[in-house]
Amino acid sequence: MWVGAFFIVFLAAVAGSSCGAARLYRFPLSNRVAIQDWRPFNVAHRGSNGEIPEETALAYKRAIEEGADFIEADITATKDCVLICFHDPILDDVTDIAAHPEFRGRRATYEFEGQNLTGFFVVDFTFEELQRLRLRQRYSFRDPSFNGKLQIITFERFISIALEASRTVGIYPEIKSPVFMNKHVQWPQGKRVEDSFMEILQKYGYKGKYKSDEWNKQPIFIQSFAPTSLMYISNITDSPKIFLIDDYTVRTQDTNQSYAEITSNRYLDFISNYVVGIGPWKDTIVPPNITTGYLMNATHLVSRAHSRHLQVHPYTFRNENQFLHFDFHEDPYEEFEYWIKTVKVDGLFTDFPGSLHRYQEWNSKE
Ligand SMILES: *[C@@H]1O[C@H](CO)[C@@H](O)[C@H](O)[C@H]1NC(C)=O
Ligand SMILES: *[C@@H]1O[C@H](CO)[C@@H](O)[C@H](O)[C@H]1NC(C)=O
Ligand SMILES: *[C@@H]1O[C@H](CO)[C@@H](O)[C@H](O)[C@H]1NC(C)=O
Ligand SMILES: *[C@@H]1O[C@H](CO)[C@@H](O)[C@H](O)[C@H]1NC(C)=O
Ligand SMILES: *[C@@H]1O[C@H](CO)[C@@H](O)[C@H](O)[C@H]1NC(C)=O
Repeated sequence: MWVGAFFIVFLAAVAGSSCGAARLYRFPLSNRVAIQDWRPFNVAHRGSNGEIPEETALAYKRAIEEGADFIEADITATKDCVLICFHDPILDDVTDIAAHPEFRGRRATYEFEGQNLTGFFVVDFTFEELQRLRLRQRYSFRDPSFNGKLQIITFERFISIALEASRTVGIYPEIKSPVFMNKHVQWPQGKRVEDSFMEILQKYGYKGKYKSDEWNKQPIFIQSFAPTSLMYISNITDSPKIFLIDDYTVRTQDTNQSYAEITSNRYLDFISNYVVGIGPWKDTIVPPNITTGYLMNATHLVSRAHSRHLQVHPYTFRNENQFLHFDFHEDPYEEFEYWIKTVKVDGLFTDFPGSLHRYQEWNSKE
């Protein structure tokens, strides 16, 4: 067996439009330890963002060190069509944009997913401008040591972090807010954000059905809350897709369907032609009683999905007390245990991939 890594050089062609850029990454592609698939997937939600500001290179590297199976990212677009890892439509909550007087005039109000939202919108800044900003933790109760030190990264940089890992690490990118991205970003030649997203994945060799040889080498789940985006890319790629499901109160951004509609048996039958699983907000699977802080009875969503061979990857598991229901006695391991052994989910999005990994190592040795 070869011990040394093989390196392949990827050279991007310099495209004619402002949306192309030359980049160079080197990857060890051979002889990496395979992704584990005999227990639920540990999906590092926005990287190890419980410890390090979300969607940064350091948060993703930390997640890999901690044992994540997949690193997860929200893919949004800049004004000059660069795809980046960033969750919110506006920069206000997790960057130091307020400390940049040169951008003061950029505040705007746009309708975003049914509501008027005011702030500094990502789509109004070029990637170069965004590089001047520094990220910080979303929650004040999380470690501030890295606040003000880390930059926004591109989708390509995110991919390179997974491909450079010494073991096989999957990626779990989300086509984020496609309706808004297609309305507010000027895509060249009548393209859509989904086309740009797929071009990048194809450039880095992501393809193949779930558990195919190609998938095993470069595992990926593509996620979106917008069913029409998943259907659209089904014409472009056979990579596995996950349909995200929001809170009961939220309607789909593209088809304006209610929670009840998209979780009906009829709709699950339909969407299972396009996706290998669903990614629901965990409170919709097991609703909490907000008066008592305890969970109520589980719904049948997991069994209805499983009976259609759909995986279930709920979000988001967070260690802190304010996110844990009293059933779990302020112990995140009890929460993992309940969701894995009782609810029987197939993957978990967590802000603390290190905790989930340690729980799994202690409880589910192959
Ligand atoms: C947003 O604001 C505009 C202009 O004031 C208004 O016409 C529109 O109805 C508002 N949209 C929502 C969803 O409140
Ligand atoms: C997929 O391609 C077929 C054939 O070109 C087309 O009829 C269909 O509308 C496309 N589906 C989506 C969701 O774009
Ligand atoms: C979405 O559907 C709801 C319920 O039918 C309706 O009230 C709302 O106006 C619709 N929104 C859009 C943007 O069509
Ligand atoms: C929540 O718990 C309270 C107190 O036990 C109870 O009165 C209420 O009916 C519960 N709510 C739901 C939705 O079951
Ligand atoms: C909740 O589950 C318990 C235990 O299985 C059962 O006794 C109870 O009737 C259920 N409650 C509801 C509201 O379905």
